[in-house]
Amino acid sequence: MITIIGSGRIGSAIATQIVAEGLDDVMLIDVVEGLPQGEALDIGHFSAVRGSDVKIKGSNDYKDMADSEIVIVSAGFPRKPGMTRMDLLYKNAGIIKQVSKEIAKYAPNSKVLMITNPLDVMTYVALKVTNFSPNRVFGMGGILDSSRFKSILAGMLNIAPSSIQALVIGEHGESMLPLSRYTSICGIPILELLNEEKVKEAIEKTRRIAAEVIALKGATVYAPAQSVVRMIDSILNDKKSVYPVSTYLNGQYGVSGICIGVPVVLGKDGVERIIELKLNDEEKAIFMKGVESIKAAISSLEL
Ligand code: 2OP
Repeated sequence: MITIIGSGRIGSAIATQIVAEGLDDVMLIDVVEGLPQGEALDIGHFSAVRGSDVKIKGSNDYKDMADSEIVIVSAGFPRKPGMTRMDLLYKNAGIIKQVSKEIAKYAPNSKVLMITNPLDVMTYVALKVTNFSPNRVFGMGGILDSSRFKSILAGMLNIAPSSIQALVIGEHGESMLPLSRYTSICGIPILELLNEEKVKEAIEKTRRIAAEVIALKGATVYAPAQSVVRMIDSILNDKKSVYPVSTYLNGQYGVSGICIGVPVVLGKDGVERIIELKLNDEEKAIFMKGVESIKAAISSLEL
């Protein structure tokens, strides 16, 4: 069973996409009376139309997450137009601390997939408060940023996004690092098809695009949800897909003591391997800017 804590727009979209793909039974949990129960009924009816036989329930009681293999955390406040993800730090840290205590109590053998922003810091909070092994607590960020980078490049080149392998690592925030050197189209390095200026434009757009969506429709929903579902699919089916995921570093990339987005192998044990890339000086500087931002945020919290 997969538990989703937070039955708002993203939580319910994740539940719908899990059910649509028939990946696993779902437990929706939220503090708002009636919300998870109502979403579960509606998505259950969707499932009956869709013909997928997975079950979905809703509850206001954390104990109902018992025996979950994966607990997805989307609880907390979403960004409002004009806000950065880091602006949510103090509002969401307390919520994630409490939710993490409940996970440790009711789903002590689960893997925790964090979505709440600021993503890398909230992933670290969940890791510390649950005291789970680092392979079992990770965050969704880079896979979403990479898909946006891919979508922007596909538009510039008028080609199918599925023909692009794009990679964005680092902070899931203002210092995210789209890596043009590790981005290719059918194996062709992107810089052979687009000049530096256009690639830089795509990188800047990738950093801004979530805020643009939020300004237009109030939240980002379907892309984050599908990013989570791809991660879950790799874990539940032990696919060992490689995605940029927020994970705890203990010396990799010359960094220790924080969670940040790097390429990992995702399988039945969660983060099974961290892949270290060779970064040039410019890339390293941006990566370390994200590291410093995350470190400063963590040190400002009482954990
Ligand atoms: C995003 O970039 C929610 O941070 C997430 O859409």
